[in-house]
Amino acid sequence: MTKRIFSGIKPTGHLTLGNYLGAVRQWVAADRAPDEALFCVVDLHALTVEHEPARVRRLSRQAATLLLAAGLSPEKCTLFVQSHVDEHTRLAYLMECTASDGELRRMIQYKEKAARAQATGEGVRLSLLTYPALMAADILAYGASEVPVGEDQRQHVELTRDLAVRFNQRYGHTFTVPKATLPTVAARVMDLQDPTSKMGKSHESGAGIVYLLDEPAVIAKKVMRAVTDSGDGAVVYDREARPGVANLLDVLAACSGGDPAVLADGYSGYGALKRDVADAVVELLRPLQERHAGLAADPGAVEKVLREGAERARALARPVVNRAYEAIGLLAP
Ligand code: TYM
Repeated sequence: MTKRIFSGIKPTGHLTLGNYLGAVRQWVAADRAPDEALFCVVDLHALTVEHEPARVRRLSRQAATLLLAAGLSPEKCTLFVQSHVDEHTRLAYLMECTASDGELRRMIQYKEKAARAQATGEGVRLSLLTYPALMAADILAYGASEVPVGEDQRQHVELTRDLAVRFNQRYGHTFTVPKATLPTVAARVMDLQDPTSKMGKSHESGAGIVYLLDEPAVIAKKVMRAVTDSGDGAVVYDREARPGVANLLDVLAACSGGDPAVLADGYSGYGALKRDVADAVVELLRPLQERHAGLAADPGAVEKVLREGAERARALARPVVNRAYEAIGLLAP
């Protein structure tokens, strides 16, 4: 059986180096044929937290443009926007009827985001709790066997597996059981100012976050100011004891190839390491930034890619979701 790949990105903020190294780069390496690799701007997921309508629209367009600039090619993969394909929400309801309340409440991202929203008095949207049911639907609607993601999405993909297995056992074989695929390095890029927390696009302060569209001088400044660890100043790869340095080594390894622990041997101080990391990130992002400038000047072309992508996606998802509707006991219309 050919493998089918599906993954998505949520337009809640500008795309970061974490998104790129953890996920997008794997997608570019994996795009192969339009019915085998599908990548989605998951805009419905952006509505699970406080949002501004115009910003979500703008970020959705920008995310799609950046994915093309990163090297996804519309001839080789299907790139589309989640809300353009109704099958996602149709199947999400069946996933809500398959998952349990306790299972969803155990999701780490739900617990963290709900605690944050409560602390700021924002209130927690019900969709934040049911989010993994929609994410499972995103994946299962396409019969995807592989889901290239960063470490923070592993738990959601595991839940998706559980739901697929449970549905198949209860109602007969319907879904392919997918697995998460993670990059060997940089599966969890940390914030440069707080190396114990993930570099996340929705964080308030951007000082520790490298955005894909940051100017080279800004990237260099952020990297040079990265928090390193107090101590003897030795460059050693130890994620527990020296998370700041380990993060820089991970990023360097991801940009230039190689093993972070071995790369550490080449440095006797933080300054030289930071300079090399800054250079490597600037060079890695340069072609993407150049292509982005060209694509952003032609929004009509990006819209066309998304329209055609949605059509292809719909044609793939519809029969799978229809089968699931029948299997669970709903009358065919
Ligand atoms: P999102 O939008 O938060 O992130 C998109 C992808 O980037 C990865 N990522 C990182 N990897 C390494 N280091 C980081 N600091 C970092 N930050 C983000 C994420 O792991 C992810 O792979 N729920 C998903 C979107 C989604 C999805 C899906 C993904 C919805 N449906 C179906 C796969 C399949 C999310 O919020 O990703």
